[in-house]
Amino acid sequence: MIIFLINEISFALKKKKKIHGACHKSTQTIKESPSASQILAQDESRVRSINSRAAFDATKDAFRSSKAASIPAKSGSSLGAGNYIVTVGLGSPKKELNLIFDTGSDLTWTQCEPCVGSCYNQADPIFNPSLSTAYANVSCHTPYCNQLSSATGNSPGCRGSTCIYAIQYGDQSFSIGYFAKDTLTLSPTEVINNFYFGCGENNQGLFGQTAGLIGLARDKLSIVSQTSAKYGQVFSYCLPSRSSGAGYLTFGKSGLSKAIQYIPFGNSKGTTFYSIDILGLYVGGRRVSISPTVFSTAGSIIDSGTVITRLPPAAYTALRDTFRKLMSSYPVGKPISILDTCYDFSKYTTVKIPTISFLFSGNKKVNIDSSGILYVVSASQTCLAFAPNSDPSDLAIFGNVQQKTLQVVYDVGAGKLGFGPQGCA
Ligand SMILES: *[C@@H]1O[C@H](CO)[C@@H](O)[C@H](O)[C@H]1NC(C)=O
Repeated sequence: MIIFLINEISFALKKKKKIHGACHKSTQTIKESPSASQILAQDESRVRSINSRAAFDATKDAFRSSKAASIPAKSGSSLGAGNYIVTVGLGSPKKELNLIFDTGSDLTWTQCEPCVGSCYNQADPIFNPSLSTAYANVSCHTPYCNQLSSATGNSPGCRGSTCIYAIQYGDQSFSIGYFAKDTLTLSPTEVINNFYFGCGENNQGLFGQTAGLIGLARDKLSIVSQTSAKYGQVFSYCLPSRSSGAGYLTFGKSGLSKAIQYIPFGNSKGTTFYSIDILGLYVGGRRVSISPTVFSTAGSIIDSGTVITRLPPAAYTALRDTFRKLMSSYPVGKPISILDTCYDFSKYTTVKIPTISFLFSGNKKVNIDSSGILYVVSASQTCLAFAPNSDPSDLAIFGNVQQKTLQVVYDVGAGKLGFGPQGCA
């Protein structure tokens, strides 16, 4: 149980609990889940590639919304991913696939038979396009094929007359294959015909045992753009705080809480990312002293696919120093990977930690859940869940750990992002 106190949080420790739960239902052998340091190292690769891609320009369209589709979302930890996953159906008849949902990329793809290059081990059977009556290859030199350039950062290829996509995320992470369309089933009543996606025959990297990824970013090929006539470029999600918790991903204007605070999206950082403006930080109820130019120089984005929030170096140092001061009564633990402020709570059953809040544009203050303040590697290694960028001009990234339990609303048509409290547990 977590008790909120004035300007501090009582944080109940679950001893023996590791970050990754046991593997679940799968007929295939599942490799051991990656360690916390592997997940954190993967996260660092992603952040490097985000900063190298943040150099494009933006377009924006407004659409009306009508319908909605809500899908349960859960932590990817059972499949060895530091991200969040939903189960959708692809093909006709549909085959269920567990896909990471990612607001920091555009293209949706899944591993496909035959795996001519290589496919990594996934929990679901690999999608076989020849078993779907609705599957079709996309031809080269068509408008959809040409849009791959901005959606992936790579020009499309052409094999025979079939459009070939290639996308890479971090150091070793990529998917290459046929660009295709097929029926996507979000829920029993919500079916998207002719959904464009990548049928990946050569895939490698940091996706755990998920079947691939759903791209929720801003570019034309993202699921948000492809379904704009139906869902009006509005979606929302809640990322649960526990690996067993139940969150959701909802397309359309449905289930939005009245307590949502909206902030405008910031100036675009390329065609993909969702920009936001961070004005400041609070620790233990007090504004941390950070020059406003620290955030405005770097710019910021929100990303469901980055695990740990990255702050400009000066902002991180100010946050960390204040946090350390307020936590000075606890014994320190060993740092791990990008996390340098860790505590040894092995002798405690509850601890009191300072609250952390973000101040966004329009002076909207958003409180972070306790699960978004500490990253529990183990009771003896529980760390402040923030990290600094190495360069002051790198983008700040509001990552998924800090978004836990919030209802996060992307109203892309209206150009605004919303945060509501207690969206899920
Ligand atoms: C898609 O294109 C590839 C390469 O040209 C081909 O091998 C495959 O049979 C095609 N699939 C369909 C359904 O047309």
